[in-house]
Amino acid sequence: MNKSDIPEKIGQRIKKLRKEIARLRTAYHVGNEPGVTDDVYESLTRELRALLEEYPTFRDPNAPEERVAGRPLDKFQKVMHHSRMLSLNDVFDEEELRDWEKRIKKLLSSFLVVGVPSGTPTTKLSYFCEVKFDGLAVSLIYEKGKFARGATRGDGFVGEDITQNLKMIDSIPLSLPGLVPEFLEVRGEALLPKDIFNKLNKKNAKEGKTLFANTRNVAAGSLRQLDPRLVKERHLDFMAYDISVTADKHSQKHQMLRDLGFKVEKLEAKCKNLEEATSFIKKFEIIRPNFPYGSDGIVISVDDIEKQEILGAVGKAPRYMVAFKYPAERATTVVKEIRVNVGRTGALTPLAVFEPTLVSGSTVSKATLHNMDQIERLGLQIGDTVVIEKAGDVIPKVVEVLTRLRTGQEVKFQMPKACPTCGGKVEKKELVAHYCANPKCPAKNERFLEHFVSAFEIYELGPKILRRFKDEGLITDAADIFTLNGSDIAVLPRFGEKSSQNIIAEIQKKKKIPLHKFIWALGILHVGEETARDLAARFGSLDKLSVASIEVMNEVENIGPAVSASVYNFFRDRNNLNFIEKLKRNGVVIEHHKRESKSRKLAGLTFVLTGTLSRMSREIAKERIIAQGGKVAGSVSSNTSYVVAGADPGSKLAQAEKLGVKILNENEFLKMLTP
Ligand code: IVH
Repeated sequence: MNKSDIPEKIGQRIKKLRKEIARLRTAYHVGNEPGVTDDVYESLTRELRALLEEYPTFRDPNAPEERVAGRPLDKFQKVMHHSRMLSLNDVFDEEELRDWEKRIKKLLSSFLVVGVPSGTPTTKLSYFCEVKFDGLAVSLIYEKGKFARGATRGDGFVGEDITQNLKMIDSIPLSLPGLVPEFLEVRGEALLPKDIFNKLNKKNAKEGKTLFANTRNVAAGSLRQLDPRLVKERHLDFMAYDISVTADKHSQKHQMLRDLGFKVEKLEAKCKNLEEATSFIKKFEIIRPNFPYGSDGIVISVDDIEKQEILGAVGKAPRYMVAFKYPAERATTVVKEIRVNVGRTGALTPLAVFEPTLVSGSTVSKATLHNMDQIERLGLQIGDTVVIEKAGDVIPKVVEVLTRLRTGQEVKFQMPKACPTCGGKVEKKELVAHYCANPKCPAKNERFLEHFVSAFEIYELGPKILRRFKDEGLITDAADIFTLNGSDIAVLPRFGEKSSQNIIAEIQKKKKIPLHKFIWALGILHVGEETARDLAARFGSLDKLSVASIEVMNEVENIGPAVSASVYNFFRDRNNLNFIEKLKRNGVVIEHHKRESKSRKLAGLTFVLTGTLSRMSREIAKERIIAQGGKVAGSVSSNTSYVVAGADPGSKLAQAEKLGVKILNENEFLKMLTP
């Protein structure tokens, strides 16, 4: 919300936010609603807090944000916890983590001066780091070594008795081995493994059901079911992290839990100082996307239990432990404007523009809306509060509109009738997409050029250089690239003799191109890299492809009617044929598609390449795997068959080790490639 907004509008926004936050809270705690995610809830809460900070007159002691969350359900018996189930304070970056350390060190040193001096100096603190699971906190009570009762956290004092449901979780031991205290409490997290979550959502999608937002919601939802059989079907897991026995160190408690037969995550670290804790946090950040369970951070605790006791708790959280939270992948924001971009095929892509918003650790102010159809599906209007999502490196997208926050001032969006770059006529194709119909649209041409050189792998020609060449009149289309010579470029300011020679050498080297790359480079609507490969494999040469009928193309595996029609029309357009002719005239040589090697030896196998191979480039290695029926992926997961590790391998190697994926050195890999 803009600062310039009048207080009346701010007041309205605060009211709406309060109402929606309260609704989400109830939906989450009581209603077992699948679609609610923490990130959205927290993002709205953050906005509310910021507004109240700036406009304290709107504060209200009875407002829901002043109350503590967590209300036990009525359906289950309520149980009083033996000791309060605390929660954790969060820190979001290294600075906050260091501030936490400063605070506790200060407290410890003041205690040691006035209180009983208890040994080791407080300037040095060792820590214990463990994964923070994104599930449901659960308390298990063992009496005489037998599992007697299990409960949810509830409000921390009183939880719900879900013993029957917890008995359905295989990783919760029903009896403990050896001599154990008469009364024992184990705390940990009930959670759903990611692979089961994915299967469940695939099934839901097939049946047209709402998809679950995250593993935590499923775990929480399942444990709230009155019928324990459902919990059994869901295959929940339990990871233990605390036990009610005396010990010197928190890390020792983990070992005791293991000895008693509990599952305890093996990724943990004893750290001599905060730097070591920080490197554990960084290490896990890389592993996290492929970690088998949902996790939103790392729990860091003072390892020494005596010191833990001195530090104690304040409010509902201990002082000796914090949660380092990784950046949220979802956030909420208000759409100020919808802008339209023109792509290389002339496709118009609407973009939502908003105030800079922090999501997944970076600030973004635009998110893609794909096409008009998507805007309609979302029901998005300008002025709406939306949920944006950023997964990995991809540009963020708008995933949901929070219509409950509407004021009535929102404005519907319409696709422009004219291209925003050249003013050309806009046509609607294939129901959902809008295109600029002007073949000479500059935006379209620029995007096409960028795509073309990247398909030809002419890495020296980045978007800026291409624009320069075009502005200077050195090229009018992509085919002109191949007739450039060193002196053309060297005369341009800031281009030396050397850099011009490099550019020319690179262009000359790339004139010879495999058929599938050439087809891809043409930028035919709907023909991406994979489709181009399928077409090349089926037709073998450009001549054959250019005369193929729609019917014949339709028969090719993975090729649907939209692709066939698009390819067919492409080769019926005189301008395109002229362009191909010009490319050939300018020296481009299209290599016929090599028949796939008979050997399909690597069919069904997925490889990940890391590090430098000494006998072939990564590109060649990739091609050879594909030629033998294998697949190449960019990151390691449980679906990876082999990781090929060259010299100086990256983090992928560590991930492979973690996931138990087989690792091949270069020699082993070469042997495997030999047909
Ligand atoms: S330690 C003092 N260790 O995080 C209470 N908690 O935000 C914290 N959690 O309610 C207990 N993984 O549900 C601890 N390895 C872990 C954890 C963990 C997840 C949850 C727990 C707690 C919440 C606090």
